[in-house]
Amino acid sequence: MAQLWGGRFTKETDQLVYNFNASISFDRKLYAQDIKGSIAHVMMLAKQGILTDTDKEKIIDGLEGILADVERGKLEISEKYEDIHSFVEATLIDRIGEPGKKLHTGRSRNDQVALDMKLYTRDEVHLIDNLIEELLRAILSIMEDNTETFMPGFTHLQKAQPITLAHHMGAYFEMFKRDHERMRDIYRRMNTCPLGSGALAGTTYPLDREYTAKLLGFDGPTLNSIDGVSDRDYLIEFLSALSIVMMHLSRFSEEVIIWNSNEYQFVEIDDAYSTGSSIMPQKKNPDIAELVRGKTGRVYGALMSLLTTMKGIPLAYNKDMQEDKEMTFDAIDTAKGCLALFTGMLRTMQFKKNNMETSAKNGFTNATDAADYLVNHGVAFRDAHGIVGQLVLYCIEKGIALDDMTLEEFKSISPVFEEDIYEAIRMDTCVNKRVTIGAPGKKAMTEVIKIYKKYLREY
Ligand code: ARG
Repeated sequence: MAQLWGGRFTKETDQLVYNFNASISFDRKLYAQDIKGSIAHVMMLAKQGILTDTDKEKIIDGLEGILADVERGKLEISEKYEDIHSFVEATLIDRIGEPGKKLHTGRSRNDQVALDMKLYTRDEVHLIDNLIEELLRAILSIMEDNTETFMPGFTHLQKAQPITLAHHMGAYFEMFKRDHERMRDIYRRMNTCPLGSGALAGTTYPLDREYTAKLLGFDGPTLNSIDGVSDRDYLIEFLSALSIVMMHLSRFSEEVIIWNSNEYQFVEIDDAYSTGSSIMPQKKNPDIAELVRGKTGRVYGALMSLLTTMKGIPLAYNKDMQEDKEMTFDAIDTAKGCLALFTGMLRTMQFKKNNMETSAKNGFTNATDAADYLVNHGVAFRDAHGIVGQLVLYCIEKGIALDDMTLEEFKSISPVFEEDIYEAIRMDTCVNKRVTIGAPGKKAMTEVIKIYKKYLREY
């Protein structure tokens, strides 16, 4: 047991209590942030005349040495310390003696841990953002290649109207674009420095909080020291944004799984991203997509957990807040893994364009266009809907598509039909006549792809 606070106590902490209380097994992840924050703190203390320059040099040298040694595997983060803050401080004192004891001047572990966690999260927001960018690039490249790849669009998982693969992918581009924007929002809102909040009421030392904030790349200091040590909103926002990312990935995964099924065969997942069965030799399973779909629950769990942890905590710091770490770390690592793997799977996946097009042709996806044809020839839409309904029924009975009917057959149901009906219900007519922005027609898609390219250039 190695603690920073033995002075007031006459008895040793019970070992079970110590273990229950300790956080080093997971907050060891924050060693670099802890050291970086301490270096900035010490530079500020010296600038303000609270520490001598000699002490400052010694402390910074010591801290940099600890960082380098941990990174090189020369110094092990020992679990005999209560938390990462105690480990760094005790190791520093061990290595440089007296000056090390001055490191914690004008600081509490409450503002220290608030800072460490913010520094960590800030970097992770950035990393997640880069992974989203990679995914957006992969989606855009599929879009560019497939403005003329016809496929059925679905509602209720029933074939609805013909679209293109570019159009379908575009829906995911929009989702992940919003995710990207959420990351930017979070970064902007969280980028204030809690260091200098002390335990909760600031300190009596003449700290220059603006200076510390600037050294650490923050926009400025937090403006209320109570909130500074007890705010975990940015983690909740981040977990919520990650949950939305996972929800998007999960929907996408579900589609990949369906498309990769024997019945659909719209795509073939690359061998490198599939797995086999131990018993059934013919199997090639979409495990990666299934795992991404499955891991979504873990990330939602982290969000629910932290929301629940925070809901009853009075101001300011309470030990409950130590629970902000493990599940957050897990959620971040999970989301990063899922984003990277999903992007790899998408990049290597083969689209079976012929199957997509055949499926679109066989599902009466041009029925709405047949009704629109009648409307353009003076029939009221409700009547046109009824007429085309009869056509569809007729085709189902005969096992043919609308396009396969003879003009006589068309006319036997409505005399309004003429030879140009075939042109009106052709796949590329149905798609390419839909030219309003956001629709699948090639003209509209080309426009949107241009906007997306510009978006990624300015990313
Ligand atoms: N391990 C603690 C946490 O993660 C550090 C802060 C401890 N502060 C305290 N007053 N006990 O929240």
